[in-house]
Amino acid sequence: MEHLIAPSILSANFGNLQQDIEMLNRSEADWIHFDVMDGVFVPNISFGFPILKAVKPLTTKPIDVHLMIINPDSYIEEFAKAGASNITVHYEACTHLNRTIQAIKSAGCTAGVALNPHTPVNFLEDIITDLDLVLIMSVNPGFGGQKFIQNTYKKLYDLKELSRNRNPKLKIEVDGGISNENCKDLLQAGANVLVAGSSVFAAADPAQAIFQLKHP
Ligand code: DX5
Ligand code: ZN
Repeated sequence: MEHLIAPSILSANFGNLQQDIEMLNRSEADWIHFDVMDGVFVPNISFGFPILKAVKPLTTKPIDVHLMIINPDSYIEEFAKAGASNITVHYEACTHLNRTIQAIKSAGCTAGVALNPHTPVNFLEDIITDLDLVLIMSVNPGFGGQKFIQNTYKKLYDLKELSRNRNPKLKIEVDGGISNENCKDLLQAGANVLVAGSSVFAAADPAQAIFQLKHP
């Protein structure tokens, strides 16, 4: 499977978001990664519906919504209406994960589950066949620009193994501290969707940084 690049606009210039979206449109980015933080599940607040609604008409690229919020069930329909293609919820934020995943699909989106660095991959054994995507967090969620956690490789191997047996089409996304220095190793370990925020938007030429992630 060809790998996908999902630049995170958490690190974009919010004073001129349109310019950054247009750069992404011209780039080899496959998806736009959209990080929603509520200040409760994670110690930071980012953005929500109004920004998603503003971004949606500016791009034809699928928008990959990563919900770092408690009680995501209450907001799934609204995120779907606002333009999400994929919605990923956190395992740690869902009491009835099966119900939440069905709700995402009923809203017309593909469904993902994110795992914090301390959450074992085998906790997904009984839901994996229902998922389109699993997001392995390679930093503690909440902020861009953090240092990559090395134990992520072990989790990617575990997930690859689980998906090989149970859901070979699963998208394996990794998020946090990704740059052209570790992208090759991550792909080799089993990732097939790479999220990158600061390494793209802090680059002198962001489209070139995306190109390098796409062609490591
Ligand atoms: C972190 C977010 C990430 C973040 C990644 O909580 O989920 O998507 O934007 O940023 P970098 O690539 O800078 O680590
Ligand atoms: Zn994210």
